[in-house]
Amino acid sequence: MSGAARSRWPPVQGLLPNPWKDRLAPDALEPDALAYCCAPAGMPAAAREAFPAGRLHTERFQPAVRSFGPDTAFEAVCARSGLTVPVPADTSLLDALAHAGRPVPSGCREGVRGSCEVSVLDRTPEHRDDIGAPEGRMYACASRARSARLVLDL
Ligand code: FES
Repeated sequence: MSGAARSRWPPVQGLLPNPWKDRLAPDALEPDALAYCCAPAGMPAAAREAFPAGRLHTERFQPAVRSFGPDTAFEAVCARSGLTVPVPADTSLLDALAHAGRPVPSGCREGVRGSCEVSVLDRTPEHRDDIGAPEGRMYACASRARSARLVLDL
């Protein structure tokens, strides 16, 4: 944030009043700067309306409540290691990979922070994260597969 922006938008402590959107400052960003927002659900939603999508990274404190179809088993093929990992219906991809000796770094385990991101080389994931996975990526703690196999860059 520039000095002028800093004086216009001094640090805020405590809870932001509603509407949060009015307190956000997309014009305060340097042209190549990124904005990060980690907050309860309302603020990331407001930030997504206010900041350009390619320059904003949001994290929510908790995942949104959403419903999905029943969990089904699939296989994760780890292309680099040649390992094929069965993922039972009652197990996350993250846990299945760890049990198979191919652990992936993780943190929140709720699909809200992105630390378990993996690259998908083939087939389509069912994205259940709250982040919005970029093309060719998925979050192993929350997301599953739309097909019987997923090929991962692991
Ligand atoms: S561990 Fe946080 S998104 Fe998967």
